[in-house]
Amino acid sequence: MSARLEVKTAPLSVTPTGTLVIYAADGAQPEGAGATIWAATGIDWTKVTAASGFKGKQGQVLDFLTPTGISADRLLVLGSGKPADGEAIATTAWTDRGGSLCAKLMAARAETAAVIIDSPDATPARIAEIVAGLRLRHYRFDHYKSAKKDPDAEPKSLTVTLHVADPATTDTAIADRAATVDGTLLARELVNEPANVLGTLEFAERAAKLAALGVEVETLDEPQMRDLGMNALLCVSQGSARPPRLVIMRWNGGKKGDAPLAFVGKGVVFDTGGISIKPAGGMEDMKGDMGGAAAVTGLMHALAARKAPVNVVGVIGLVENMPSDRAVRPGDIVKAMSGTTIEVINTDAEGRLVLADALWYTQHRFKPRFMVNLATLTGAILAALGHDHAGLFSNSDDLSAKLLAAGLASGEKLWRMPMGAAYDKMIESRFADIKNSAGRHAGSITAAQFLARFVNDVPWAHLDIAGAAFGTNANEINTSWAPGFGVALLDRLIRDNYET
Ligand code: BES
Ligand code: MN
Ligand code: ZN
Repeated sequence: MSARLEVKTAPLSVTPTGTLVIYAADGAQPEGAGATIWAATGIDWTKVTAASGFKGKQGQVLDFLTPTGISADRLLVLGSGKPADGEAIATTAWTDRGGSLCAKLMAARAETAAVIIDSPDATPARIAEIVAGLRLRHYRFDHYKSAKKDPDAEPKSLTVTLHVADPATTDTAIADRAATVDGTLLARELVNEPANVLGTLEFAERAAKLAALGVEVETLDEPQMRDLGMNALLCVSQGSARPPRLVIMRWNGGKKGDAPLAFVGKGVVFDTGGISIKPAGGMEDMKGDMGGAAAVTGLMHALAARKAPVNVVGVIGLVENMPSDRAVRPGDIVKAMSGTTIEVINTDAEGRLVLADALWYTQHRFKPRFMVNLATLTGAILAALGHDHAGLFSNSDDLSAKLLAAGLASGEKLWRMPMGAAYDKMIESRFADIKNSAGRHAGSITAAQFLARFVNDVPWAHLDIAGAAFGTNANEINTSWAPGFGVALLDRLIRDNYET
């Protein structure tokens, strides 16, 4: 089982207990209250740094057991990385500090820790980032691991007290940021869960739980979708014993009557490829093919938990892509809700079929200010961008600029890809209006062109998160398979541009 984490704040004046943590910037000694503690130990800074090679870089640590002169039984001096007289660092560097702090405390097997944060640049918002990093790094997906035999294997809980200049203001900032962290952790959990546990109905149930936070949740079942003409979405789920669902989540924190922002997610709870079945190697990763829907659900959680002053609608299409005697076949032609006919060339190009109807429905029912969809849509985006950027496809330079900026600010980065008439031509079909697969060339772009056929005069962006949603490298703030990509990004987009 995962250890429990609790984070509190206290004034700098309170005597710290447990494992004590102070910081030293790159090339500098501890400052403020940290300097006082260091002085009390009587240890010579110059000798220690010369003997250890400690420079104050992020990730470096000096570890003293039973130091004299102070009450703590262990003193950790962590490098804070920023040069002593350097420029302000990016917000994400503060989050990384929190992640690194968590790693050091876990490595020290600490159960209670006191962290002295006394530096002029440590504003409440930045301290809230440290707490965010702590919590994001602490997350593990291990509920299917049997409990270890050795009862001493790992402390059961970690309580961290941050000693700061202004605890009251800091607590408010921490609570606000925690809402977004909770959204990210929810998205991670949904992506990490295996498909036998998280099917379409189970996912819909988890989304319905957002009602407790004040989100209005509506769920459409198969007959309702059939009545609406959502045959593109429905042809994907028809081969699975698990029924499809379309979940609509509304957070109305803004002015009554203001058009909402809309987010649409691909929620393929498992993608076998269908009749165009995928090869066995790596197919287990396709439990994460609902990463777009997870991000939208996590975002709705974040917005409601922090009572964001904005109207937002989240729509997720939940299906399972299975081969069976009832499954859609290559060559089949279906009519989408928009009236567009689609020739299904490859049943493994299913995400775009789901999104075609979800996007059309969302723009017509809600008349949103903009629409952003997230989808683990193409292997080709992995070939192009790897894991470090998600692909951005858009009909709006303004929305693109805002998304790119939010990506840099949140650390969930995007890279804009081209679209245009020449690519659109590639999805023309011999027998229907369009086809769902256009061959190997420009695979991510032709997928985006397909989606664009279901978007009219609304600013729209498609984020292809096939590389970003799972299987990413471990970093300072995530060691889990699924980073929860998209929640922090879209929360940042909304905070910076659409809240009054
Ligand atoms: N879910 C996959 C895309 C994917 C691949 C996501 C790897 C994450 C990791 C999607 O449904 C798919 O199978 N796309 C096909 C499209 C092709 C048949 C036109 C692909 O990318 O190969
Ligand atoms: Mn597929
Ligand atoms: Zn898929």
